[in-house]
Amino acid sequence: MFPHLASPILIEAAHQFGTPLYVYHAERIRFQYQSLKQAFANWDVRFFYAAKALTNLHILSYVDSLGCAIDCSSINEIKLALRAKVASEKILYTSNSINFTEIEEAVALGVYVHVDSLSALEKFGKRFGNSYPVGIRLRPNIMAGGNLKISTGHASSKFGIPVEQLDQVLALISSYNINVQTLHIHTGSEIKDAKVFVQGISLLLDIVAQFPNVSAINLGGGFKVPYYPNEKGTDMNELGQSVATLFMEYQQKTGRHLQVWFEPGKYLVCEAGYLLTTVNVLKENEAQRFAGVDTGLNQLIRPMFYDAYHHIENLTNPLAPVNTYTIVGNICETDTLGADRSMPAIREGDILSIQNAGAYGFQMASSYNARLRPAEVLYKDGSLQLIRRRETLEDLIQTQENL
Ligand code: LLP
Repeated sequence: MFPHLASPILIEAAHQFGTPLYVYHAERIRFQYQSLKQAFANWDVRFFYAAKALTNLHILSYVDSLGCAIDCSSINEIKLALRAKVASEKILYTSNSINFTEIEEAVALGVYVHVDSLSALEKFGKRFGNSYPVGIRLRPNIMAGGNLKISTGHASSKFGIPVEQLDQVLALISSYNINVQTLHIHTGSEIKDAKVFVQGISLLLDIVAQFPNVSAINLGGGFKVPYYPNEKGTDMNELGQSVATLFMEYQQKTGRHLQVWFEPGKYLVCEAGYLLTTVNVLKENEAQRFAGVDTGLNQLIRPMFYDAYHHIENLTNPLAPVNTYTIVGNICETDTLGADRSMPAIREGDILSIQNAGAYGFQMASSYNARLRPAEVLYKDGSLQLIRRRETLEDLIQTQENL
């Protein structure tokens, strides 16, 4: 177990940089990466951090410095990774519904690309033949994930080429002599059951014989991390063992070595992040005691969008008697960050810490209600470093034409 960032450090960050504020703990990211490497030590596995979870350049650069490669979901994420000085050979591009020009641009930048439709595969074949390797994202028809919005591998999902269309895939590969080097699936996020990955592996190992150039199987991201106290995440050691066993058996049977790729986003950064917020208003009605804070769904959308639970702590009154609160944001629609939470008495002015805010927190923030996006701070080697300043009104106006 890795301990949470100590309250005095978080409080110091809030005092120094103001709230709302995102704080990330570098050491936690490193710990998560090391745990992955350890869990998969018995097989040839490569990790690509799914940058979409948190794309701050300092985070990308830090993840790169750990030895982890980067998975991008848009051409701009690629450009951010390059800006963070990640080598193009360490960048993967897994996209969907994009214009083919983005793929051409990614190839020009020297990045490895996955295509996710027959249409893109055909265009890729026509344009590049076998001059540039490519990966294919398949839709495995596996229903999994914490929420339908983040389930991506099921039979009515828009993602990937349905496995039923394998014949068409093979026909395109053969007509354009396409050099397919990886097969990819990503079944969804928050997949607790390691067996879902095993199901995906079995499916891919059943068809990989038809892809003689494939040297790696990409199983995407989606490892579950605990959000509730004492909740269990994906059992990484079980998964690591299953991967080693399945691929070893396959190798013994066929003589073919297949590397395994993963694209973890949440697993690396989720628990490293805290959204700090100040309580502005206490309000009571017949049924509830509200604590109104200086953030909202504009800065952490997960509770309202996915009904996600984020644990909340009162940093500045930890020893007070416990009471029940509903923590609400300051946005002009219902933005409950935590309902009916038992926690030490909250006073106006207290600083609350919303946990598990590293992944898809800042990254999904908006300027709704013309509120300014928070600053981001990285706690590393014992010091707090501002890695993104707070937005200003000027930032909001900057892209608008003058009146
Ligand atoms: N690879 C692909 C192709 C993906 O689409 C995703 C996430 C990942 C990897 C990383 O998944 P992770 O390890 O982070 O679960 N905003 C949602 C999660 C959406 C994930 C979209 N794709 C949330 O806040 O739960």
